[in-house]
Amino acid sequence: MSQDVTIKIIDREGIAHEVQAPTDMNMNIMELVRAYELAPEGTIGICGGMAMCASCQCYVLNDVELPEKNPDEEAMLWEAFNVKDNSRLGCQIHITEAIDGLEVELAPEA
Ligand code: FES
Repeated sequence: MSQDVTIKIIDREGIAHEVQAPTDMNMNIMELVRAYELAPEGTIGICGGMAMCASCQCYVLNDVELPEKNPDEEAMLWEAFNVKDNSRLGCQIHITEAIDGLEVELAPEA
């Protein structure tokens, strides 16, 4: 049986939310933010998770090890605004047991 993991998400107002995320629903961080309504509808996940809009950009705040960026994610972050060294696309971070304890901050709305 798979377990929920705990993810900390700082929203665009600077408020921290610790949420439980299921590992057995094939979800990603962008979908998690939407599920908990931590960003207004229409401001995140615009491309539906295709690595084509960067509305799901977030900054990784701790050293939980994440899978490498795929070329689509690299390319999108190359073009996006407000990109930092720790930027990732939330839609490309899948919720697995390996990311338990991850802390991310949502990037400003571009
Ligand atoms: S939802 Fe569009 S890039 Fe992630």
